[in-house]
Amino acid sequence: MEQLKQAIRERGNVLSDQVLKVDTFLNHQVDVNLMAAIGEEFARLFSESGITKVLTIESSGIAPSFMAASTLGTPLIFARKKKSLTMNNDVFVSSVYSFTKQETNDITVSKDFLDAGDVVLIIDDFLANGQAALGLIDIVHQAGAHVAGIGIVIEKSFQDGRKLLEEQGYRVESLARVHQLSEGRVTFVDELTT
Ligand code: G4P
Ligand code: NA
Ligand code: NA
Repeated sequence: MEQLKQAIRERGNVLSDQVLKVDTFLNHQVDVNLMAAIGEEFARLFSESGITKVLTIESSGIAPSFMAASTLGTPLIFARKKKSLTMNNDVFVSSVYSFTKQETNDITVSKDFLDAGDVVLIIDDFLANGQAALGLIDIVHQAGAHVAGIGIVIEKSFQDGRKLLEEQGYRVESLARVHQLSEGRVTFVDELTT
């Protein structure tokens, strides 16, 4: 998605060869027009998939998912990282290990919001090692529902996430695929010359 790649080039900040900072439009300040365009692109990619729910994870997955759910005409559910005060114990739980943060966190979704028979589009802001996506997939399966695919805003293609998800047979649609972060510059997969 050209508009997204341009935002990454012009407003992103390469913190290291592993980490891309995009606080200017995605992870802190939110460019709502760009998020709307991203959501519409996810909806277009999965328009033939019979999606009944969009599932993401708080906090940064919510903004890019909003317009996807709106366009597809489905509810948007976000998995919680901390149990909310009003949440009862009827929840699906999955443990997610973050290699980046070197910690494990439980993510939860109330059983009220996912049913067997749901066809779910999973969306997240970043795909690194794929552990968050695998946790969300686990929760969809606990509900007896079907995963139609995974929509990612920014994929770091030099990490293992896509490989892991594709090996398990999932459709992965990433709107920007970062091949390399090096010397302050971003190289995208589709810019590679042979
Ligand atoms: P994984 O799920 O793909 O295995 O990813 P990982 O554990 O490495 O990611 C942990 C957190 O770091 C996630 O956010 C993820 O979105 C974020 N992250 C991973 N790589 C990058 C990067 O290069 N740049 C930025 N900006 N973030 C990255 P989170 O802790 O869930 O936070 P949030 O959703 O509340 O923002
Ligand atoms: Na994040
Ligand atoms: Na995230």
